[in-house]
Amino acid sequence: MHRRAFIKNSCTACLSLSALSTLVSGCVVTKYIPGTLGKDGLTVSKDDFKIKQKGGTAYSSFIIVRNDALLFPVCIYRFNDNEYKALWMQCTHQGNELQASGDVLQCPAHGSEFNNKGYVVHGPAITNLKSFPVTVMNNELFIDLRKQS
Ligand code: FES
Repeated sequence: MHRRAFIKNSCTACLSLSALSTLVSGCVVTKYIPGTLGKDGLTVSKDDFKIKQKGGTAYSSFIIVRNDALLFPVCIYRFNDNEYKALWMQCTHQGNELQASGDVLQCPAHGSEFNNKGYVVHGPAITNLKSFPVTVMNNELFIDLRKQS
């Protein structure tokens, strides 16, 4: 094979793999659960983050608790088995509901973005998201809705 043809074929293969990778990562399904709402907060299972795959179990980086008794959903990010962040999905600009897109929460109203710790990364919002303390108890997470962390 000539050098030019080799480079052309290699670049085509690399671009194809990149495009496929982007498509696959874009197909991650967001998991919604109701959680168990008690007097002081929400309880969810660590198992709610599990994704069954061929050859083992993986973990979703986040799940969304959507419960009719709550005005807005709560997005829970998983950093490892013992570290989580629970974020109130209400934009701090003008109060619209946010949408989760991987590790970013986006506002469809005017484009504000927040990272998975709740910090503003793109305005017009200037205030970070409301977040709640998460307590890990055996296989469950308790999100205390009475307090902000
Ligand atoms: S309400 Fe979210 S950016 Fe304006």
